Amino acid sequence: MAEAVLEAQGLRKTFAGRGGKVLRAVSDVSFSIAPGETLGLVGESGCGKSTLARLVLRLIEPDEGTVHFAGRSFTGAAPDKVRRMRQQVQIVFQDALSSLNPRMTVGTNISEPMRLQGIGTERERRDAAHELIELVGLRREHAQRYPHEFSGGQCQRIAIARALILRPAAIVFDEAVSALDVSIRAQILRLILDLQQRFGLGYLFISHDLSVVKRIADRIAVMYLGRIVEIGPSDALYRAPLHPYTQALLSAIPVPDPRRMRVSALGAVEGEAASPLDANDLCPFRGRCPHRMAICDEAPPALVEVREKSAVACFLHSPVQLEEKHA
Ligand SMILES: Nc1ncnc2c1ncn2[C@@H]1O[C@H](COP(=O)(O)OP(=O)(O)O)[C@@H](O)[C@H]1O
Ligand code: SF4
Ligand SMILES: [Mg+2]
Repeated sequence: MAEAVLEAQGLRKTFAGRGGKVLRAVSDVSFSIAPGETLGLVGESGCGKSTLARLVLRLIEPDEGTVHFAGRSFTGAAPDKVRRMRQQVQIVFQDALSSLNPRMTVGTNISEPMRLQGIGTERERRDAAHELIELVGLRREHAQRYPHEFSGGQCQRIAIARALILRPAAIVFDEAVSALDVSIRAQILRLILDLQQRFGLGYLFISHDLSVVKRIADRIAVMYLGRIVEIGPSDALYRAPLHPYTQALLSAIPVPDPRRMRVSALGAVEGEAASPLDANDLCPFRGRCPHRMAICDEAPPALVEVREKSAVACFLHSPVQLEEKHA
């Protein structure tokens, strides 16, 4: 396999929570993304997805763990190197309009990262912005206009052009299509896939909606209360989900047959969600799991590979861990 464009190892981040408690937002998260590959990251609101995105971009510092871009340490890089290394990973947020500068033209918004990095002359920056505007499906004349003149989908195209201007190796999409109507969403997803093919980009594609991730991801990581509970190739994960939480999520995806239609919200998963404030190392899904066993209250399940390229953190699938415990 080609060297990973983006690799996270053992990332942890806690925040000071209410009542002096420690809030575990991200716990021991590891993954890698190859050039041209999309890793989907899915989980309910509050499970730590955006915190993970901010750790990857080093917008916040991890308590523990490392991030590497193409084999080079980003978390260990000196401050003067961080700025240059930032070129390699860009982010696209859910609310494109508010992520753009309302006082700058669309063209200047797109080329601004070049100026901040001290790259090119003004003319070169303008030309680069024009080229990208067309590539994302807008017209060159749009460069002179201002962000508020555009629709949500068009603003997302502008944000994507800006993310591309520094020729990154990877892009993080944090709920980037979640606010769009279904038909616009499909267009933006197609654009995102086209750009990936053209530039060989690695994507971390974050969504609370499994049906959206399904359309775009090669592999999927399922996150629950700060931890990856299952990770594996998308088709295997959909065909035969391993973790009880993934199974619950999939049963909440609407299906085409109206008689079997279910609500699509992840909130459809039954039971009380645990709080990241009460987190410990035991299985975070214990409180909602229909298969809970004695060992689930005694030991933490490790994320182990149980079939080709698929790993899960659940005692149902790791008899070795069970045997060790009872040996
Ligand atoms: N800066 C912060 N200070 C305190 N708590 C935070 C901060 N950022 C996020 N959190 C908490 O961390 C948890 C994960 O949040 P977030 O990463 O935004 O989740 P998601 O993107 O999956 O909805 C939540 O409980 C949230 O309240
Ligand atoms: S480890 Fe136990 S509680 Fe957790 S998902 Fe597996 S069976 Fe359920
Ligand atoms: Mg978020």
